[in-house]
Amino acid sequence: PALSCAELKALVRTVPDFPAPGIQFRDITTLIADGPGLAATIAHLAGRVEASGADMVAGMEARGFIFGAAVAARLGIGFLPVRKPGKLPVETMGVDYALEYGADRLEIDPGAVRDGARIALVDDLIATGGTACASAALLRKAGAVVDHAFFVIDLPDLGGAQRLRAEDIGVDALMD
Ligand code: PRP
Ligand code: HPA
Repeated sequence: PALSCAELKALVRTVPDFPAPGIQFRDITTLIADGPGLAATIAHLAGRVEASGADMVAGMEARGFIFGAAVAARLGIGFLPVRKPGKLPVETMGVDYALEYGADRLEIDPGAVRDGARIALVDDLIATGGTACASAALLRKAGAVVDHAFFVIDLPDLGGAQRLRAEDIGVDALMD
């Protein structure tokens, strides 16, 4: 890739006190608005996903769609959207989970998961790991093998990567 991960980190904006006082919000809007930055981010992620041996990518709504679908298209493999509730027009498989600010639910179309598919998780950021752990549990329940997760940003102080590793999921991020 034309830009290093350190150069990509310089394109991520930090916004103080969003969405609540005291939180330093890492915002990828500035990274994806930069053409070379977006291209290099996808190239770095795609190289790691390819090396993991995954044959499908799952991305979490909404920011995980931006990176996950681009990575899957670059590798010529399928993309599976992990959706917020009530969006999919078929009978879904779902999981309730806690996140950094509140609670939520994620749903998938189990028909999109081939039994034994090796699905890599891709998202913009891991904080507490609640979203990624719930997604992995859901995909595993649907019959997938989930052993790798890839993020643009890891917030290591929040322990999400450790939570995923405790579920036997390898974690890799382009920056902290
Ligand atoms: C953010 C982020 C991750 C998740 C990380 O998504 O994109 O999916 O939170 O937090 P966690 O590791 O503590 O679960 P958010 O729920 O804000 O949704 P969005 O992508 O629609 O903005
Ligand atoms: N930035 C973006 N998304 C997030 C963050 C953050 O700092 N924490 C949890 N989700």
